[in-house]
Amino acid sequence: MGGSVATLGLMSVTPSERTLRPRRSNLAVPGSSEKMLDKARGLPVDQVFMDIEDAVAPLAKPQARKNIVAALNEGGYGDKIRTVRVNDWTTQWTYADVIEVVEGAGANLDCIMLPKVQTADQVIALDLLLTQLEKTNGLEIGKIGIEAQIENALGLINVDAIAQASPRVETIIFGPADFMASINMKSLVVGEQPPGYDTGDAYHYILMRILMAARAFDKQAIDGPYLQIKDVAGFERVAGRSAALGFDGKWVLHPGQIDAANEVYSPRQEDYDHAEMILDAYDYSTSAAGGAKGAAMLGDEMIDEASRKMALVVASKGRAAGMTRTQTFTAPE
Ligand code: GLV
Ligand code: MG
Repeated sequence: MGGSVATLGLMSVTPSERTLRPRRSNLAVPGSSEKMLDKARGLPVDQVFMDIEDAVAPLAKPQARKNIVAALNEGGYGDKIRTVRVNDWTTQWTYADVIEVVEGAGANLDCIMLPKVQTADQVIALDLLLTQLEKTNGLEIGKIGIEAQIENALGLINVDAIAQASPRVETIIFGPADFMASINMKSLVVGEQPPGYDTGDAYHYILMRILMAARAFDKQAIDGPYLQIKDVAGFERVAGRSAALGFDGKWVLHPGQIDAANEVYSPRQEDYDHAEMILDAYDYSTSAAGGAKGAAMLGDEMIDEASRKMALVVASKGRAAGMTRTQTFTAPE
């Protein structure tokens, strides 16, 4: 597989370490706005991504690169993941975006987001460029992760190969606006059902396709933007759909969407408590003291190894989100 030419084996950050970082809320910040780059420092999001792509006009891109380098080096983003979205490989800007940002601020950067990814080769090209930049700039090889945005039909049918193209890949992101345009979908409201579509969820296949690739190859699955920024109920509805399937987070375009994202992609307190209880009860029942039983009862619920796996998913998300449990398990007499 083509990915083996990349940095496999040289990584000091493993894919699962990369994918344990919470990304419930991913704030989009145009690199052309120094004011918004600054404001992002104080917002309670898991990730900030600084854009040089579609939120920045062509004439403003050179200055956006400079603003981003300055903002990253000035710091103040706390433990937020810091990502820069470069322009896609079909433009004339990608190489210069990557070089300027990594040479200027590689030490203060976590990931490069590559939009409109269509083939695994495009990820490998970025991986190779990053490796050279890491070598020449005294950075740890593999330090900088890749976030791959799926925004058209070709990208979606190649998503499995894209997910495996480099160990740097941390996320597979759905870009609904570009995607809807790419497949000629009629809706003009991103994430809502197109007019005349009444047989189910027009996004279900796309979301599931991305989620399967992400889960098969240990990546995070991230939902893209909801453009009606005043409509928080609409945001919650659309976010709730991908969260229910298992997506890890969603973009936020406006501070008003942040709390909703952090909440929708965290487990509910009762589900988190329940998950921790299942893990404890299962640990106990499989132990010698608990009778080494593979199936046990937690109240009225039968639990076994599959229950433990489901509970681990919810518990891990809750722990990553900093939740604390409100129930303790006591072994039966
Ligand atoms: C995001 O980039 C989108 O196209 O939805
Ligand atoms: Mg897009």
